[in-house]
Amino acid sequence: MRSLLFVPGDSDRKIAKAMSSGADALILDLEDSVALDRKEEARAMTRDFIASAKGQEKRPRLYVRINALATDLWSADLEGVMPAGPDGIILPKPRSGEDVHRLSLALDHAEERAGLKQGSTRIVAIATEVPICVLNMASFVGSSGRLEGLTWGAEDLSAEVGSTATREPNGSLTSPYRLARDLCLFTAVSAGVQPIDTVFIDFRDLDGLRAEAAAAARDGFTGKLAIHPDQVPIINAAFTPSQREIDHARDIVAMFAASPGAGVISLNGRMYDRPHLTRAERVLARAGLASGE
Ligand code: COA
Ligand code: MG
Repeated sequence: MRSLLFVPGDSDRKIAKAMSSGADALILDLEDSVALDRKEEARAMTRDFIASAKGQEKRPRLYVRINALATDLWSADLEGVMPAGPDGIILPKPRSGEDVHRLSLALDHAEERAGLKQGSTRIVAIATEVPICVLNMASFVGSSGRLEGLTWGAEDLSAEVGSTATREPNGSLTSPYRLARDLCLFTAVSAGVQPIDTVFIDFRDLDGLRAEAAAAARDGFTGKLAIHPDQVPIINAAFTPSQREIDHARDIVAMFAASPGAGVISLNGRMYDRPHLTRAERVLARAGLASGE
């Protein structure tokens, strides 16, 4: 999933618009973008939308962001939306991988009640939204077979920490938030799940988004959260390998295939060893091409 677009779960208009946004995934939100007195309505709207959208042939993946496990809202969120069989649940503000495990157990029961295949509902956790979680990142590794991705958040974290800004005047992240981002990347890769970069909240600044998405793709993130439809094409482009990257990856894979057992090859005057092969295979996988094809 390259782009995951947040859509307030109580907005008919935005939900309708989101389906044609081109996003690889939609995140119907029941948490921060929905007021407390609209939660019940948002659950019903989200459930009805997923139920009707699920049958469509070329559809985005459909996720629901529930409220945090520290609230008394999340059980009703699950009860409200699970009958529609969302592809996954986005877990905000976990305190550690233990919360992923807890959610996974709740999903076992919810799937049974809804007649869904056991284990079919995936989990993407928004790590780093609470400070203790930044110290507990390693606990996500092996937390649940349902875990599919990890992303991170700066806004809630900064509110808890008391930072007055998360970015320097030039737009780059300040040190504490760069740490959160980088830990998300290392943790996701260690857990064997997708590293997903956080939202870019200045949604009119498309050049800023393009630069940030390119930097995320360069560093190893394979997708990014979006909050506005205009952000989707830019994010999709940033996380789609270019033809040049694909051709180069193919050359590396072909060279290694031509000299079985070689630990190192040379190509156009540069050295390539095993890590480069791994990287090339990843590029081809992201482009939807099996290596060697
Ligand atoms: N999903 C679907 N459609 C969206 C959208 C979204 N996330 N954000 C905006 N749109 C729609 C608007 O409804 C509008 O459609 P319309 O022309 O039919 O009325 C169109 O895109 C243009 O929107 P625009 O006027 O540029 O923005 P806005 O002022 O209406 O909305 C936000 C700005 C930030 C309120 C809106 O983008 C939003 O709600 N984003 C998601 C917020 C969220 O879920 N946050 C939680 C995660 S951090
Ligand atoms: Mg939040």
